[in-house]
Order: sequence, then structure tokens, then C-alpha cells
Amino acid sequence: MIEIFQNEPLNQRNSMKVEAIAKVFIRFDAEEDYRQLINHLNEKSKPWILLGGGNNILFKPFFDGVVLYPRLFGIHRKEVISGTEDLIEVAASEDWDQFVAWSLENGYMGLENLSLIPGTVGAAPVQNIGAYGAEVEQFIEWVEGWNFETEQMQHFSRSECEFAYRDSIFKKKLKNSLLITKVGFRLSRRGELNANYGDVKARLSAIESPGAADLRQVIIDIRQSKLPDPALIPNAGSFFKNPVIPMEAMEALRKIYPEMPVYPVDSERCKLAAGWLIEKAGWKGRSLGKAAVHHQQALVIINQNGASGEEILELAAAIQADILQIFGIRLEMEVNIV
Ligand code: EPU
Repeated sequence: MIEIFQNEPLNQRNSMKVEAIAKVFIRFDAEEDYRQLINHLNEKSKPWILLGGGNNILFKPFFDGVVLYPRLFGIHRKEVISGTEDLIEVAASEDWDQFVAWSLENGYMGLENLSLIPGTVGAAPVQNIGAYGAEVEQFIEWVEGWNFETEQMQHFSRSECEFAYRDSIFKKKLKNSLLITKVGFRLSRRGELNANYGDVKARLSAIESPGAADLRQVIIDIRQSKLPDPALIPNAGSFFKNPVIPMEAMEALRKIYPEMPVYPVDSERCKLAAGWLIEKAGWKGRSLGKAAVHHQQALVIINQNGASGEEILELAAAIQADILQIFGIRLEMEVNIV
């Protein structure tokens, strides 16, 4: 069924809780609807966006376009790949963390590192969600979606998804042409816990012969202690990506800041912690208007008192300008601006 709303408020549909209105808002819940949606999208070639949980998005006050809001549910065990591995097909609107919980309850392991990441299953491959040493691409076998340009279902193997750090083909070439409808996960019932990430290792070592459920609990505890709960303090998780820079640039900075955290990427590049840079630049806990940098995790921008999308962008721009001036690094936003 397709339902169409005009001038729909989006305040409760974005985790930053900014006030925004969409000119057209379309909710739909069945595969038969995809073909019809195109009629609404073609009209004067309006821009359109796809809305999942609204966790990685920052709206400006008026979106003069169409918001597509799919409601596609279902988790199915599709096939047995081997004695220990199964293919699980999950519809796009399923809640990510509920799927992680389902996977552990059903005896699979691996997804526990990605516990408590807000959002939907369909959004997970778009920015290749990652945390505590894992990225969702490791578990994805394929992604399926409706292509509005070809008006056909399209299937992508893992390599065709062009996954990279917080990036994929869905964020680039296929932005605004593909509606992800289902994701196929290859999940295993056996394996080693992925527990080498600093904080995780320390906390898990206190537990005797820990299992995947213990690791999930450790991750939940760490996230709850560092990251503000969007239900209580509006935010969009990491606002910026961790910057990837050439080795020589990193070495020059390390001479000035020997304590700066650095993570390897490949032989020529490494990744820095944007949170560290922002804290070092003096922004942690500071506010500008009604927007602020969280006092425990400088990578997170919070909406304190009904800030608008534009006020939040002003704070982001001020931070970017300082980081460029102090460290010579351009911070890229992780959230999508609409
Ligand atoms: N740090 C600071 N000050 C801060 C925050 C961090 O000095 O205010 C330092 C930490 O001490 C640490 C380093 O920066 O040495 C990295 O911090 P942390 O491990 O907390 O992770 P992060 O780089 O800040 C990334 C992801 C998070 C993910 C965590 C854990 C990005 C953009 N963010 O954050 O993902 O949960 O690692 O794996 O890659 C998200 O994308 O929304 C998100 C929350």
C-alpha cells in the first residue's frame, strides 16, 4: 500500500530532532509498490531521498522534494551455505540492533561488535556501518534493491557494493537511484570473538571464557558510557568521518603531537581519530548557539535546545575551520545533509 502526505513534519523522524518539513512524504510497504512510486518521483524531476531510521541525516528546514519511507519487514533463513554458515535474508526496514540480537539468539556470531548502532538494516550497507573492529561488509553476501532508473530489481554481490570506510556504491554512483529492499547476510555459528579493540579487550578479560553474548554486553556498556542515547539527547552518532591522510602528513603531525592516536590503513595512508583532533582543538563540550559538542565524545554533535539544521551546520563549519587551521586536515562529514 502507498500512502502520500503533503507538507509532512519530519521532527520525530530524525535523531537530531531538528524541525523540518518534507513537501511530499510517501510511505509504502510492499514490493508491488515500487513500480508505482516512479510516477510520483518523475513529476518535475523533484529531488527525492530515502529515509530509514533518520539516524545519519541532518535536515535543513524545508525539503522541496519527496521523502520515501519504506516499511519492509522480515528475517528469513534462506539457505545453508555449509555446516556452520547460513544465508539470512533481511528486509530493509528491520531495526539493525534487533537483527543483531536475533542473530545471537539464533546461535550466530560476528555481528555482536556492531551492537546498538542505531538505524535500519537497509541503511547499514549504505555507509558500511562499523564499530569496535568490525564493519558490516564482512557479513554481507549481497544487497538487493529496486532501481528507479532501469525500473528493475538489481542484485549486488559483496564486491559490487564497492565497500570502503563508511562508504559504498550506494552512497556514490547509485545515490538517488536505488532503493535497497533486502540484504543477504552470511552468518556463521562458529569462530573467534573479535575482541582486540582497546577498550573491548580490557573489559572482556574480566569475564571467564566469554561468548558472543558477553561481547555484545561489553559493547553495549561501552557505547552507553560514551555515546549519548539519541532518545534522550538528540544526535546523529559520529558527525565526522575519521580522516585518512598520507603517512608523511601524519609523521609531521606526530612530531608536534606524539600522543596522537593513529590507525593503519595501508602502506601509504593512515587514519586519525577525528574525536581526538576536535578535543585537542578545544571543542569538546563547547556549544555554539543551541548546538554543542558532546562532553564525553567530541565526534558527536548534540542538539541541546531545539537547534535548527542550519545552526548545527554552523557549529560543524566552525569545527572544520579550526581543524584545518590547526592541523591542516579537512574533516569530512559523515552525516548526510538534506
Ligand atoms: N578520542 C579523544 N577524544 C574524544 C573522542 C575520542 O581523544 O572526544 C580518542 C580516543 O581516546 C581514542 C580515539 O580518539 O584514542 C578513538 O576514539 P573511539 O575509540 O571512541 O572511536 P572514534 O574513532 O571516536 C569510531 C566510529 C564510531 C564507533 C567507534 C568504535 C567513526 C567516524 N566513528 O569512533 O562510530 O562506534 O569508532 O569503533 O569511524 C558512528 O559512525 O556513528 C560511530 C559512532
